[in-house]
Amino acid sequence: MCADRQDVDIAEVFRKVSRTGIGTSSGIIIDSKRVDMLAAEIVAARSVVMSSEAKSEQSEKNTTEMNVTKSATATPALPSSSTEITGIQIGAGQKAEFKSLDSHFENICECQKCPLGATRTKFVYGVGSPTADLMFVGEAPGKNEDEQGEPFVGRAGKLLDKILAAIDLTRSEIYIANILKCRPPDNRDPQSDEMEHCFPYLKEQIAIVKPKIIVSLGRISDQSLLQNKLALGKMRDQWHSYQGIPLRVTYHPAALLRNPNFKRGCWEDMQIIQAEYKRLSS
Ligand code: URA
Repeated sequence: MCADRQDVDIAEVFRKVSRTGIGTSSGIIIDSKRVDMLAAEIVAARSVVMSSEAKSEQSEKNTTEMNVTKSATATPALPSSSTEITGIQIGAGQKAEFKSLDSHFENICECQKCPLGATRTKFVYGVGSPTADLMFVGEAPGKNEDEQGEPFVGRAGKLLDKILAAIDLTRSEIYIANILKCRPPDNRDPQSDEMEHCFPYLKEQIAIVKPKIIVSLGRISDQSLLQNKLALGKMRDQWHSYQGIPLRVTYHPAALLRNPNFKRGCWEDMQIIQAEYKRLSS
């Protein structure tokens, strides 16, 4: 965690952006100030989407945000019997082998199934509510996560927190986990044998938490969960299914840090997710 930074008040940023007209950005975001700027730009993108689609008589902000996308974005009525959607076999859901996340963690936290076990500092299991309706899945721990034993605590994690705040959520209300539980050296892409060993751990976490929606962050997570080799762009803008659970794909926060042009798409994805989350949780 950066001790020298305070959390951005999203509403305040939004007001500032409206006043100063900051709305676009170019170049690569390289420090925490730029992270804050990106958060502001995500909020700015929200205002663009809202003003072009929402009706002016909105009396309540969140209600309006849901209405903007609802008709186009309701999750498909997922069949209860086995069927094929976007290349994955959908069954009736998976039964958890472990009674709780704690007992599962205790069972696997010393894992040495792949070489990453020998190089990790901490096993990064997952964080959040064990009964969350919404589960976010990232790729693998980075340096900060490896040191602290918690997913998404570095710069990408700070941005994820802000994205969550923009849809009125905190990380304690959701559950966050990664495809890999141990950090790949130099943050390289996970290798297929590492994912093969580690993926069953995520599967069990999903079976224990039983989220109503899974949000997959980035290509590596998408391809693992949906078992395909498609580019992220081919997987966005539609509902998928993982074991009968509606799954939505969006950009990894680290990709947003590298390329601010993705921010609008991310915001649109998050609005769709928020609307469906509210619908399924009510
Ligand atoms: N990136 C990820 O995919 N996961 C983390 O936990 C941190 C960064």
